[in-house]
Amino acid sequence: MSVGKEMPRVIAMSSGKGGVGKTFFSVHLAAYAASKGKRVLLMDADLGLANVDVMLGVSAKGSVLDMVHGQKTLQQLIVSSGEGFDVLPGGSGLYELTALDAGQQQIMMDEMRSVSDNYDLVLIDVAAGIGDNVLYFVSAAESALVVLTPEPTSLTDAYALIKVLSRQRGVKRFMVVVNQAEAFDAQVTFRRLVSVADRYLDVHLDYVGHLPYAPEVRKTIQSQTLLKDEDSPQTKQALDVVLEGILSRPRDIHRHGGLQFFWEHSLNESLSAQAE
Ligand SMILES: Nc1ncnc2c1ncn2[C@@H]1O[C@H](COP(=O)(O)OP(=O)(O)OP(=O)(O)O)[C@@H](O)[C@H]1O
Ligand SMILES: [Mg+2]
Repeated sequence: MSVGKEMPRVIAMSSGKGGVGKTFFSVHLAAYAASKGKRVLLMDADLGLANVDVMLGVSAKGSVLDMVHGQKTLQQLIVSSGEGFDVLPGGSGLYELTALDAGQQQIMMDEMRSVSDNYDLVLIDVAAGIGDNVLYFVSAAESALVVLTPEPTSLTDAYALIKVLSRQRGVKRFMVVVNQAEAFDAQVTFRRLVSVADRYLDVHLDYVGHLPYAPEVRKTIQSQTLLKDEDSPQTKQALDVVLEGILSRPRDIHRHGGLQFFWEHSLNESLSAQAE
């Protein structure tokens, strides 16, 4: 068989506590990766306020439900962010995916695979906390990434999320990004998380970097634009480290059950490659 075509990395961007900067991080990482030539799809799986649609000023062209009923293709629901990457907006029914029957899930997976050749990286911006939909999307992704800030409550909630995902969904590896922190404080926060996780959980945490607080952001929110490189060189530098950390990391090819977007296929491909 022909192997060689890498399937996209599919990463769920999660957080224990709300408002820690998942969406901010996701859209800026998507734009930065795009500026480096990566083909990126950002899926907004959070129905809360002030999410991807709002940050980028995009809106949905239909619902994922139209897709599972055969009236639209996934390709028809994907919109351009205007920042070099594609978006599947949150109003497009992604939330309802948690209630799909087996046949509809199959259609969803087939549709995801039909666009997979178009992307190197798929980021899923999920809701905060440990709701069913969060557990669903994180288990459906290849990799889990947890965003937290140095605030104590953010740390406790990140720990709670990791605990539930590992115990209930068998997710054992997590990438960790500390937002709104300088490098040293971010490392301290990460080490605190590791020390408690190591003591009570059977998980592996990979630090992939931090993002500093960027005061320049106030200018961009109202205009629904992103920070430009020249607005915040520190943010750009930090995104560079994070992107490198994500892309250089070994693929997560373990199985943790449930619906998988893309990566079940990639697992099958790598298993057949090994068998040849
Ligand atoms: N590194 C940062 N520098 C400056 N502002 C930031 C940074 N990270 C986040 N913010 C701001 O903090 C606010 C909350 O961020 P954001 O909406 O991304 O959080 P979230 O985790 O997605 O929240 P929710 O859980 O509600 O989805 C936003 O106004 C965002 O622009
Ligand atoms: Mg958000």
